[in-house]
This record gives sequence, structure tokens and C-alpha cells, in this order.
Amino acid sequence: MPQRSEVVVITGASGGVGRAAARRFARDGARIGLIARGRRGLEATAREVEAAGGQALVLPVDVAEYDQVQAAASSVEDAFGEIDVWVNDAMVTVYAEFLDIEPAEFKRATEVSYLGMVWGTRVALQRMVERDRGSLVQVCSAMSYRGIPLQSPYCGAKHACKGFTESIITELLHHKSKVQVSMIQLPGLNTTQFTWGRTKLPKQTMPVPPIYQPEVAADAIHYAAHHKRRQVYVGIPTVANIIGERVAPWLLDRYLAKTGYKSQMTSHDLDPAGHDNLFTPIEEDRGAHGPFDDLAHGISPQYELAKRRGMVFAGLGAAIVGASAAAIRSAR
Ligand SMILES: NC(=O)c1ccc[n+]([C@@H]2O[C@H](COP(=O)([O-])OP(=O)(O)OC[C@H]3O[C@@H](n4cnc5c(N)ncnc54)[C@H](OP(=O)(O)O)[C@@H]3O)[C@@H](O)[C@H]2O)c1
Repeated sequence: MPQRSEVVVITGASGGVGRAAARRFARDGARIGLIARGRRGLEATAREVEAAGGQALVLPVDVAEYDQVQAAASSVEDAFGEIDVWVNDAMVTVYAEFLDIEPAEFKRATEVSYLGMVWGTRVALQRMVERDRGSLVQVCSAMSYRGIPLQSPYCGAKHACKGFTESIITELLHHKSKVQVSMIQLPGLNTTQFTWGRTKLPKQTMPVPPIYQPEVAADAIHYAAHHKRRQVYVGIPTVANIIGERVAPWLLDRYLAKTGYKSQMTSHDLDPAGHDNLFTPIEEDRGAHGPFDDLAHGISPQYELAKRRGMVFAGLGAAIVGASAAAIRSAR
């Protein structure tokens, strides 16, 4: 009997991390429900999934609308069968100081980036909990732990995603559920976000360096979907941020106040015709990468080590035992 190929749903699959993740799952022959609003981007992702050996179902859906997400989940199960993995990745943001952001803009960014994750979680768990199997992957950020300037809607939403997910994890544990939930804490990535995110800044936006390629995040999502990891931290900047926040948040406030404006802007002027994807999608295929290929790292040694932590601990253990034995021998 051939093994059944995995059924995966990815929100935010028309660009950036979600698109790279779709390609990663497709390499295993996965059947993937692709959720975003932009049909052109989704269709391009579907072609990439099929070229990589998977199957795709294009689902033009707004994740801020619960009924649409619920209907998309049903369409995936009608087409492919029971969902094994659900990845909540979709986001929008507004780059600006807080007082320059209109209430309607703040509300929209929160509804997509936070409630979109909540709705995705609800429709996935409604199916997985009953079956007592499945894997839910929440795409989060170093900014789930630490707020930075010029991104208050995003940082607020990402903190909320973390708190919400911790609540869900405790409920699943209470019921001894076998459903897995993982959070992926990501660093700055070279994604489409910086080509279509709404901005009121004077120059083009960029991720805070050091920057990684979206394929690094895609691998972490794929890894988390198949391993029992509550959290996966990707990149030294993520780890440094989280430790900095725990040890000296007041120092980080001052450091970010000083550096956080410059580090999020390039020297390039804004595209005068620049449209953004806050309320409606950009109907273009922009791929997964942003404009920072020259700066972005294709690998994170810290994440590669974290993936192999069993081997690393075993190696460290063996080294300690070996060194102790040598010390005892020489003492004798
Ligand atoms: N890039 C970074 O530096 C970075 C760093 C840390 C964490 N992350 C995390 O990575 C994830 C993806 O970010 P990204 O940088 O890849 O962003 P991105 O390039 O802007 O991609 C966002 C995706 O979400 C979709 N989307 C936006 N609004 C939607 C809506 N209302 N309904 C459905 N889909 C919607 C977009 O497609 P449509 O516009 O076609 O709908 C697109 O496919 C986010 O959760 C983010 O927090 C990113």
C-alpha cells in the first residue's frame, strides 16, 4: 500500500515565508491548501508546488473572515482528505509611528495578523482535536517577545499570538491531547513584505539585519510540523532579542530607540505609485523573496545546531565523560 501523502494548509501562501514553506512541503509530495487573497500569487505558488512534486488547491480567502477560513478548511478536506498540518503564516502590517496610524489601519493589521491566526487555529483544532492527531504551526517572530519602534500593530499582534498559543497548549495538555502545537520565532527575513507592506516612513522599509532567506524559515516550519518542539528559535538575533528582553528590557528600550529607526529603512525613496496589501491584495506574482538577496543568509548555523540538539547534547556528554576519564587517569 503506498503511504498517504500529507495534507497541509498554509495561510499567507502567495508570497514570502508561506510561499517558501509551500515549496518545502511539496518536496515530500504533500497535498497543500494554499490560502491568501491574491489569486495571481496563489496560482504561481500552485505551479511551484506541482513542479516540486506536490498537489495544490488555490483558496483565495481573507483570514480575517472566520467563515471564509472555515469554508477553506472544508474545501481542503473535500479535495484531499483529513488535514495533517495547519500553518498560520498570513500577516499584514503598517510601518509608521503609532500616532501616524489610523484606527482603521491598526484594526485591520490586528484582524489579519492576530485574529487570522486565531481563526486558523480554531478551524484546524475543531478537526484535529476530535481525531486526536495533527500538527499546528504558528509562525511568530522575535517581536512576539520584544516590541520595536515603527511596528506597533505588528508587535502587538505577535505578542498576542504567543499568549493565545500558550493558552491553547495548556488546554491541549490538560486533555492529554496528541495534537502538536509549535511556535516558530523568526528573525528578519528577505520577503515580499518589504515590497507591499503599508508604510508611512520616508524611505523604503527593510528587515532588521542580519537578514535570512525565507527558505530558512520554511525549513523550520517543516521541521516543527514533524517534531515535538514547543518552540523553534531561528537565528542568533532572535535568541539575542529574547535573552536581552529577559535580562535588561530597559537597556533594549534605549538601544532600539537609538538604532531601530535607521535599521528598518534603506536609503531608497518610496515608489511613488506604491500600492500596499493592507486592505486588498496586490494582484501580481512577486515570488517569495524581497529585494535583499545580496544581504540575506541562506543558512542559520544556530538553527541548524538547535535542530540537532540531541546530537549536540550527546556530543557534549561524550566530551565531558571523555575529559573526566582522562583527568581521573592522569590524577592516578
Ligand atoms: N519577513 C520578516 O522579516 C519576518 C520576520 C519574523 C517573522 N515573520 C513572520 O513570517 C510570516 C510571513 O511574513 P512574510 O514576511 O512572509 O510576509 P509577506 O511576504 O507580506 O507575506 C504575507 C502573506 O500573507 C498574505 N495575506 C495578507 N493578508 C491576508 C489576508 N487578509 N488573508 C489571507 N492572506 C493574507 C499575503 O498574501 P495576499 O496579500 O495575497 O493576501 C502573503 O501571502 C508572518 O507571520 C511574520 O510574522 C516575518
